[in-house]
Amino acid sequence: MEVGFDGVELHAANGYLIEQFLNANVNQRTDAYGGNAANRNRFVLQIIKALIAAIGNNHVGIRISPYGVFNSIGAFQGVDQQYINLVQECSNFKLMYLHLLDHSTIGGPEVPAPLKQSLRELFKGSFILTGGFDRQTAESALAQNKADLIGFGKPFISNPDLVERYKTNSALNLPDKNTFYSPGEKGYTDYPTMS
Ligand SMILES: Cc1cc2nc3c(=O)[nH]c(=O)nc-3n(C[C@H](O)[C@H](O)[C@H](O)COP(=O)(O)O)c2cc1C
Repeated sequence: MEVGFDGVELHAANGYLIEQFLNANVNQRTDAYGGNAANRNRFVLQIIKALIAAIGNNHVGIRISPYGVFNSIGAFQGVDQQYINLVQECSNFKLMYLHLLDHSTIGGPEVPAPLKQSLRELFKGSFILTGGFDRQTAESALAQNKADLIGFGKPFISNPDLVERYKTNSALNLPDKNTFYSPGEKGYTDYPTMS
């Protein structure tokens, strides 16, 4: 915040540390942080409280990926209700946004539509959907009020001027998967802009 960012996204997705607490397949704890949904949600809620105390609720967003399989995590019994509880708390805390990631376009299971809808309705701040969107599907999701904002990953990697291209409905550079996660500047700074 001191160097001018607008906020912090709490990354509770993709099988990283926070989701390892959330996920019953991974969380084997027998203390206050495991064993039931409320306990599995405890860690992230404590972090949210600490973040709010440090920078204020309107500077904190959260990213989640229920049903994600990245880092060998996967859905578990009671997953929907646990995320409903978590998102209700996030809404009570008046977090800036909820960012829901769906991996189904890259072969993961889909976040079931009823769960997406429930989370969308429960959360009172801005709701972001990410995962496999292009200009057209993003516009359609917004028009159907499925989200307030759409996140773009791969299209942005390969198009430094993505916003301008979408505004003018121009053709896109395709991302080169061979340069994902690779060392060096290739695939990071050398995709051409339209001009
Ligand atoms: C090369 C590459 C690296 C990524 N690295 C991460 C990462 O470190 N952590 C993470 O949570 N998501 C990561 N993602 C996922 C993106 O944040 C995004 O959610 C995902 O690509 C889905 O959006 P898209 O379909 O628009 O690309 C990465 C994606 C790509 C393509």
